[in-house]
Amino acid sequence: MWGLSAFLIFSFSRFPNISVMEKINAVITGVGGYVPDYILDNEEMSQFVDTSDEWIMERIGVKTRHILRPEQGSGVSYLMTRAVRQLLEKTQVDPASVEMVICATTTPDYHFPSTASIVIGNTGLTHAFGFDMEAACAGFLYAMEVAANYIRSGRYKRIIVCGGDHMSSMTNYQDRNTCPIFGDGAACVMMEATTEEVGLLDGYYRVEASYEHLHMAAGGSAKMPSHETVDAREHFVYQEGRPVFKHAVTKMADAVETIAKRNGLTKENITWVVPHQANVRIESAVARRIGVDEDHVMINIDHMANTSGGTLPLCLWEYEPQLKKGDKLIFTAFGAGFSWGASYMVWGYDGAAEAQKSPAQFYKEGEISREEWYRLRKGEKSE
Ligand code: ACO
Repeated sequence: MWGLSAFLIFSFSRFPNISVMEKINAVITGVGGYVPDYILDNEEMSQFVDTSDEWIMERIGVKTRHILRPEQGSGVSYLMTRAVRQLLEKTQVDPASVEMVICATTTPDYHFPSTASIVIGNTGLTHAFGFDMEAACAGFLYAMEVAANYIRSGRYKRIIVCGGDHMSSMTNYQDRNTCPIFGDGAACVMMEATTEEVGLLDGYYRVEASYEHLHMAAGGSAKMPSHETVDAREHFVYQEGRPVFKHAVTKMADAVETIAKRNGLTKENITWVVPHQANVRIESAVARRIGVDEDHVMINIDHMANTSGGTLPLCLWEYEPQLKKGDKLIFTAFGAGFSWGASYMVWGYDGAAEAQKSPAQFYKEGEISREEWYRLRKGEKSE
């Protein structure tokens, strides 16, 4: 018993404001992100697959996406390493004080070692352990919950949660049904212990085993890679858009509604809905269901596309300047599995000053401005 008390007192000594009797919450204290330089726009895409800018903008809402080209780098660790470096630079946290790294990704560099091992090595987190989590597009949502529970247990106080994907590595650029949707990118958050009533306060998560509409057919232990699987292009995303669309809208809207009801959240007091960026029509439908105006929905699908595990933290990365302490956020995501859910978070710091330290690469040459995107979405003629 004495040993345990001594351990708790010792382990909390780095966080002197926390006594062992108080309730511990897990709060985000910093955000970092990275997207590769190369921008693939709809015009370029329509040169190698039968599609058009009009179709993609109307049906999905994507104008441009970032792609990690082999000559720049490879693997999702390339993206996550840069995101973590920016996070450490912004937060000025001693790398040796980070205890754990969780990487939510469906495109790990390798089956093994884990991407977390590679990122930890690349960023000098000498006292951290880490692992990967795979839950497709819901990965980051689940990973935040996992990290929060490690922190709530009282045993860990500082965890980095990364979310991101190198989606171009498993996108079939001969399939117009899927290739316009995806892009590459990663972002990460620092989660820390606090006794304030802020941070990740509630979550609702579900899985419904259903694979036929959304999967990668080969490459795992059920169907090992072979000449035949490569020839059949079975190492790419397979998706039947319509059933996935229906499920995504229904399940995310249900989850958001559940979380909102449980926590007394209404359109009047929700500051931000942070939805998985799968399709702007899905995001709008989810927001409509709880009556939240689009101005309170984080949207960056126009220039980021669907980066799978990266969408939620990339939203935080870009909207950080607008986030204020006390803001009420609902996160929601849906992905293969099917896996989905929603969580409620009270934001823990004023983002404007933090974001200034190392601004997100919001718009780059070749990307459209937000105003231009809204004009296009409303069907007005582009200049
Ligand atoms: N350009 C032009 N025409 C196209 C394209 C394209 N890129 N893609 C499809 N079409 C055509 C189809 O061939 C079809 O033509 P037809 O009527 O002659 O047969 C027509 O457009 C309509 O096709 P739909 O598939 O019904 O189009 P839809 O409006 O459903 O949009 C989309 C497709 C964008 C894929 C949509 O269904 C969607 O967003 N689904 C959900 C995606 C999602 O949320 N995924 C989950 C996360 S992803 C993950 O976990 C990895």
